[in-house]
Amino acid sequence: MALTETAAQSNKAQPIPSGFASKEDDLPEFLNLQFENINELHLDHPGANDPEYRKRRDYIASLAKRFRETGEVTDVEYTDQEQKIWQHVASRLEELHQKHASPFYLKAKRDLGITNERIPQLTEMNRRLAELTGFRLAPIEGLVETRGFLTWLSYRVMLSTQYIRHHSRPDYTPEPDVVHESIGHIPMFTNPNFVEFSRFIGLGARRATDAQIEELGRLYWFTVEFGLVEHEGGIKPTAQASFRRSESSKMHFRTTSNAVRSTSMK
Ligand SMILES: [Fe+2]
Repeated sequence: MALTETAAQSNKAQPIPSGFASKEDDLPEFLNLQFENINELHLDHPGANDPEYRKRRDYIASLAKRFRETGEVTDVEYTDQEQKIWQHVASRLEELHQKHASPFYLKAKRDLGITNERIPQLTEMNRRLAELTGFRLAPIEGLVETRGFLTWLSYRVMLSTQYIRHHSRPDYTPEPDVVHESIGHIPMFTNPNFVEFSRFIGLGARRATDAQIEELGRLYWFTVEFGLVEHEGGIKPTAQASFRRSESSKMHFRTTSNAVRSTSMK
């Protein structure tokens, strides 16, 4: 998920537009959404010094920029190398999910048609989300500031990257990529309660001060990025984001002994 841990410093609080309504059919078209809060952050990842990778990233970024001019989401024709990175990471995570993840998450992944074989396209996930919760995914070229990210949630839209991590470190990425978004976050948006929770945070982000944005970002970060739900008396992670890779390269499941709150995911 394209969300930063630090708050935007420069953006001013924005009023909720008077025309805003919560009914799904009143939500604005992509083309009518406001884009001024999208500020891309610095590029710092394992492929930053690989000219071929940078070129590919620039091309995929151009698709996101085109989206902001046309409102049309363009699918990416992923290369064999990119598909192989997905297959490697997705199959490893699938093993962990089968052992540890909430049944809700496993079903959501199936409902979205996410498989280990190929990188899912935003357009196909958008079609499924439209049927399930009316949520939408919009392409973005990289990490964005907290206010912009959260504000878009108020329109039931998640800004989602389409590029994939660098092949030199398939098991690790310091920034969101299509694996992180599609496996870690997007399945949660098949749940109407989660969509409403996200929208509520987004509405707050529209009118929050810079200090409040930092708090909202932290709230969203620690409830979503490290999401846990109760299931049959136990605590289960909701997403890939709850699996962290340790420095010793051993996959482990992150548990929290405090600050765990239950929420209804029915
Ligand atoms: Fe994330």
